[in-house]
Amino acid sequence: MKKPDLRENRSLHTLEFSRRAESYHAHNIIQKKVVQKLLSSITSGPRKILDLGCGGGAVYERIDWEIESFTGIDKADQMCALHPQGEHIRLLQADFEDAGLLKSLGRFDMVISSSALQWAHDLPKLLENIASITDEIALAIFCDGTFRTIYEMTGISSFLPESGMLQKELEKHFDVTCKTEHYRLTFEDNISKFRYIKRSGVSGGTRRLNVEETRRLIRDYPHDYLEFEVLFATGRSRRGC
Ligand SMILES: C[S@@+](CC[C@H](N)C(=O)[O-])C[C@H]1O[C@@H](n2cnc3c(N)ncnc32)[C@H](O)[C@@H]1O
Repeated sequence: MKKPDLRENRSLHTLEFSRRAESYHAHNIIQKKVVQKLLSSITSGPRKILDLGCGGGAVYERIDWEIESFTGIDKADQMCALHPQGEHIRLLQADFEDAGLLKSLGRFDMVISSSALQWAHDLPKLLENIASITDEIALAIFCDGTFRTIYEMTGISSFLPESGMLQKELEKHFDVTCKTEHYRLTFEDNISKFRYIKRSGVSGGTRRLNVEETRRLIRDYPHDYLEFEVLFATGRSRRGC
């Protein structure tokens, strides 16, 4: 089976985020649940925060403790434009895989990332870079159980990370607690499901199908729900200051 071209897929994704910034903000039901769960797991009250793939500010909006500074990085200018602004908020329209940029930002109490790191070209390297600039992490990363039935039906392999492998990578750099959550989102019909995939910003699979294959998938999809798999990781970096 042909492995999908990850780079092609991910650059499509970035374009998609720019074009769909407004609709993404309104339709990201699962991402909202994810960010809520991720933020509720943070009890240490970190004051200097870096948010990777900050989007329109879902993480920032859920911080309910006092902070000193918040730095958000996002590639998509239209997502950054939706983010809350403020004296203590620094927004960088940039690639979070830019190691030089991350190092130049200094140290953080916590690096948070919700629903974004699965798009990294080199996630192991990115985790290593994150470990060198923060004391703590709180990460939620979509895994390859997302849209599982679609991938099984079409024979396309998911480009999302496998949760077991991801946990092993995390354990190389962090004393980490990992929990994988499965979500189901129910729809009235198949057309609405595929419309949701397009708007949600977690698409990928359906983009690589031709028109006939897409039609067949929409017609034959057996469930009234879509599946999502998310790994939540919280912990401390093993690398000291
Ligand atoms: C699914 S959205 C999540 C946004 C926000 N964290 C939330 O929970 O609603 C993923 C975000 O990651 C950004 N992103 C993806 N790859 C990126 C990269 N390499 N560098 C910076 N931002 C990136 C996208 O532009 C998008 O805004």
